[in-house]
Amino acid sequence: MRVRASCPARLVCLTLAAVACSSSSSSSHAPDASTAHDGATSHVDARTPPHDAGHDSSDTGPETSSDAASDAGPAPPASVTFPSSFLWGSATAGFQVEKGDDATDWAAWVAMSGKIQNGDNPDVAGPDALGHITQDVQDLVSTGQTAYRFSLEWARLYPTLADFTADTPDATAVAAYSTLLTALVAAHITPVVTLDHYTLPAYLEDVTQPAQPQGWENAQTTTLFVEFCARVAKRWGGQVDYWITLNEPLPYAVGGYLQGSFPPGLVLNVDRTIAVIKALALAHTQAYDAIHAADTVDADGDGKAALVSIAKHQRTFHPMDPTNAADVTATAHVEYLWNQWFFNVIVLGNWDDDFDGNYTGPNDKMNDPTLKGRADFLGINYYSDTLIGAASGIVIPAPVNASIEQAHLPTGRPESDVGWDIYAEGLGTVVDEARTLWPLPILITENGIADHTDQNRPRFLLDHLFQLGWAMQRGANVIGYLHWASIDNFEWASGFCPKYGLFSFDPTTEVRTPKASAMEYATIIAARKVTLAQLNAAAQYETTTAMCQ
Ligand code: FCB
Repeated sequence: MRVRASCPARLVCLTLAAVACSSSSSSSHAPDASTAHDGATSHVDARTPPHDAGHDSSDTGPETSSDAASDAGPAPPASVTFPSSFLWGSATAGFQVEKGDDATDWAAWVAMSGKIQNGDNPDVAGPDALGHITQDVQDLVSTGQTAYRFSLEWARLYPTLADFTADTPDATAVAAYSTLLTALVAAHITPVVTLDHYTLPAYLEDVTQPAQPQGWENAQTTTLFVEFCARVAKRWGGQVDYWITLNEPLPYAVGGYLQGSFPPGLVLNVDRTIAVIKALALAHTQAYDAIHAADTVDADGDGKAALVSIAKHQRTFHPMDPTNAADVTATAHVEYLWNQWFFNVIVLGNWDDDFDGNYTGPNDKMNDPTLKGRADFLGINYYSDTLIGAASGIVIPAPVNASIEQAHLPTGRPESDVGWDIYAEGLGTVVDEARTLWPLPILITENGIADHTDQNRPRFLLDHLFQLGWAMQRGANVIGYLHWASIDNFEWASGFCPKYGLFSFDPTTEVRTPKASAMEYATIIAARKVTLAQLNAAAQYETTTAMCQ
C-alpha cells in the first residue's frame, strides 16, 4: 500500500495508489442521507454537483452560486457589514513559527529522513516569532487587526517529564510568552491561545516506535494535558479569555494514523485513528473544566473569565456522482463523521461510540452531563471542499466506508498551491450548519490559502468575508475572523513550500514584509464592510500548477 506522494498538507487526502482496504461493507453502516443522523440535520449539498457546468473557473464569486442560498433563490446582498465588536485577526501555531522547539515530537519527526518536503526545518529557515515579538505585534497593529491566535508549546515550557512533574517550567519560555501576551494586551489585541496545536512533548510520543501506543492513545497524555491547561490558565488567565484546547482533532488523528504524514506515521490504521479521536474528545471535556476552574480573571471586562473551545476543521462535502444514491449516502455519512461527531460530543453530550451515525449502540450516550456544554463558542477552521464516493477509488473501511478526495477535484474551480479548490461559498455552508446544529457564537479560527504569488489572496479575503457576512445576515452569530496565517510558516509535512502568510519574511534576515493581501485586509477591517462591487472588481483567481505536496 502506498499513500499518494503528492498529498497536499496532511488532511484526509486518502487517495491511495494501491487497493489496500476492503470495500465489502461499504454501505452496511452508512445512514440514509435523507434521514440524517438520529435527529441531526444532514448538511450535504447534493444540489450542487461538483461537475456542474456552473462551476467553471469563473464561477467563484457570490453572484453565481452558493451552497447556502443561491440554489434556493436569494440573490447576494449588495454589501455585508460587520459589528464594531467583531474580532479581526490572524493565526499562527508555535512549532510553525518558532525556532528551538527541540523537545517536541515534531522536532524528532523533522529530523527523520523523508518526512518533510525538501527536508525543510523550522529551526533553519523559520520566522522565529519569539525573536520578533515587537515587530510582529506592530504588524498586527499596522493592519488594524484586533485579535491574534497563537499556541503555547507545551514542550518549550516543560522540555522534560521531570520539569513537568516538578512544575518547574523553563524560565526563558515563560518570559517569552509573557512578553508576547503583555505586548498584545498593551496593543489592545485580543489573544486567542491554543494549548495544543498538533505537537506533543517527545516524552509523550516516541516517533521511532510507531507500532506502540503513542501520545493520546496513552491515558497519561490526557492526565498531563489537563494539568498543563490548568497551570497555563492560572498563570496567564489575567491576560487571556479565549482558550482553544485542541487544534483540529480529526486532521491530527488522520495525519498520524491514516495518512502517515504526522507522527507517529501510521497508514490506514482505522482502529488507532478512532482511539485517538475519542481520547481527544474526552481530553477536551476535562481540559474545559480545568481551564474554567483555573482562569477566574476576566481579562477584557466582558463579565466572562474564560471562553473555551476547540478549533475544528470543517469542510463541505459533495458526492463524486450526485446521481449515484450510494455516493450521496456515503457523503452524508462522512459529513457527519467529519463535521458533526466531535461537536455533538462536546456541545450536546451525544457520544456515538461506534461512529455509525446514530445513538442507539450499547455504548452510545445522549445528553450526557459529563460531556455536554463543554464549548463556549465554536472555533471553526475552513479551507475547502471534498468529494466522496461509495465505491470509487480506495474505500476506507468501516466506520468510514467511503473514498475521500480533497485535492485536484474535477470541479473546474480555481485551486490553491496545494491543489485545494477555492470555494468561498463553503464558508457560508459550514457556518449555516454550525448555526443550525449547535447554538453557540462562532469564531472563525482559521481560513486561508496557499498562494506563493499573493495573486489570489486579496480576492480570497473579499470573497470569504463576503460569504461570512452573508451568513451573518442569515442569522449566524459570528464574533470574529482569524486569517491563516499572520506570516508565512512551516506547513508541517509540506515544509515551507505553501505560503499562507499575510506577511512574508526573508529566511536569512527574518525581515518581515506585508503582502498586497495584508493591505487589502487592512482596508476591509477599516471599513468593516465588503461590497459586491468591490468583489466583482477584484482581480480574478488564477490557478498555478500546484507546486506543494
Ligand atoms: C490547518 C492547520 C494549520 C495550518 C493550516 C494551513 O489545518 O491547523 O496549522 O497548517 O491548516
